[in-house]
Amino acid sequence: MAGAGVFSVLLSSILVLACADFPYQVGYFNQYVDHFNQMSYGESTYKQKYLFQDKNWKRGKGPIFFYAGNEGPIEGFWTASGFVHQIAPEFEAYVVFPEHRFYGESLPMGNKSFESPYLGLLTVDQAMADYARFLSELKKSLNCTECRVIAFGGRAAYMRFKYPNIVHGSLAASAPILMQDPAGPHDFFFSHVTNDFKGYSEKCYLDIRAAFREMDVLFAQGQSGLDKISNDFFLCNKLTDKQSYQHLQGWVRNAFTFMAMLDYPYATSFMGGLPGHPVKVGCNKIMSAKSLLSGLADAAGVYYNVSATVKCYDIMAEFVECADPTGCGNGPAAKAWDYQACTDIILPTGSNNVTDMFPVLPWNLELRKDYCKKTFGITPRVDWPATEFLGSKISSSSNIIFSNGDLDPWMGGGVLQNVSPTVISILVKGGAHHLDLRASNPLDPPGVIAAREKERGIIRGWLNQS
Ligand SMILES: *[C@@H]1O[C@H](CO)[C@@H](O)[C@H](O)[C@H]1NC(C)=O
Ligand SMILES: *[C@@H]1O[C@H](CO)[C@@H](O)[C@H](O)[C@H]1NC(C)=O
Ligand SMILES: *[C@@H]1O[C@H](CO)[C@@H](O)[C@H](O)[C@H]1NC(C)=O
Ligand SMILES: *[C@@H]1O[C@H](CO)[C@@H](O)[C@H](O)[C@H]1NC(C)=O
Repeated sequence: MAGAGVFSVLLSSILVLACADFPYQVGYFNQYVDHFNQMSYGESTYKQKYLFQDKNWKRGKGPIFFYAGNEGPIEGFWTASGFVHQIAPEFEAYVVFPEHRFYGESLPMGNKSFESPYLGLLTVDQAMADYARFLSELKKSLNCTECRVIAFGGRAAYMRFKYPNIVHGSLAASAPILMQDPAGPHDFFFSHVTNDFKGYSEKCYLDIRAAFREMDVLFAQGQSGLDKISNDFFLCNKLTDKQSYQHLQGWVRNAFTFMAMLDYPYATSFMGGLPGHPVKVGCNKIMSAKSLLSGLADAAGVYYNVSATVKCYDIMAEFVECADPTGCGNGPAAKAWDYQACTDIILPTGSNNVTDMFPVLPWNLELRKDYCKKTFGITPRVDWPATEFLGSKISSSSNIIFSNGDLDPWMGGGVLQNVSPTVISILVKGGAHHLDLRASNPLDPPGVIAAREKERGIIRGWLNQS
């Protein structure tokens, strides 16, 4: 199966620029639609997209740096993972980012992919089998079946757990894998978001709480109160009932969540875009506003009005409630992620106004089960991810770095202590969600510079292992 029949490179795409710094080429791989049931789809294949860069590669010998992609079109991850590109030259590595099935262009059943029963082909297992087969065939076609593969990205640790024959070592940046264990941590998320704001300013935190309380007071006044909230928030459509009011609360909470998660020291375009230090920017808006309500709206605007051209907020379009309490976004990727949040990916619980600063917006297993049944006709098999992917019993594995930024709300689900001499935890002081994977920047905090240095040393050690 190796060689030209499986891979096709679009020559016309050579030197497409992703963020001027990191050029890539585009290829498509004939990937099995179904790795596990040969009777259902037989040998049918789809075109799995991948991006690659081989200009630094020591032909036949250098390692393969592989991004075990997350849930989204692959180009965004190429751009957001500058660390991989920046260290490729010193390792003489071949860099390749295959796209996760059901995202971007990599749709196993074309435009029918999101219909039942085809959506069932979206599992972490299938996606990982895609990567495993892709890498095996890639190595054959490059004449380097002995080349070592280092994995980065959302499924890096799982690839090392499940395919140690193919992946030699993994940098799992900001991977909240312990959350996948029903017995693991789950209630950390919104309290961590809260602490990020409190950490910047106690007053900011108190103002946010007070603003939510003021909203509740207005809500209790009926339609006149809802009208005032709608006005102060510049909503395109007036709130009319409890449901729309709660949707607004979720919309606001979501803005704070993204500001905390992507609290980078410089402006980014990842996941919609934010200014540098968004937590600080949001807090300063609240603390300088003429009223609590307009302050809360302005702070939410740091996320929803990054274009500075939004006339009014269409909260139903801007925040779509789904199986993930942090929202699913829009478009086909939203549906795919929603489905995964009902099947493979266990996500955090809701907010409670006690351990966090947010309104009481519960999201527990029972609610999720109802939602998934109603939306997809399925019941989450909550014990399976921990069964399949080791849960918190990961000491049988080796050659994995788990890095976590102390500003990242997902940190509470991460591996925060060394598990063995080769399953290592690195804390990134001053780091938001996988800051260490991003390209270096003059505004980087010292904590991430140190973390990247350590990561490079450990990867070097893995590659030198006999
Ligand atoms: C789906 O794809 C088929 C074949 O490529 C095409 O003919 C059809 O118009 C597409 N349908 C939609 C809704 O995009
Ligand atoms: C791999 O080896 C074959 C046969 O020796 C050769 O034709 C092909 O060009 C080589 N491929 C690469 C990428 O070096
Ligand atoms: C979005 O930002 C622009 C520029 O600051 C501002 O004029 C506009 O009123 C904002 N939109 C909303 C809905 O607040
Ligand atoms: C949230 O907590 C505050 C106290 O910190 C309390 O005054 C308020 O009533 C609570 N709101 C709800 C909806 O429980």
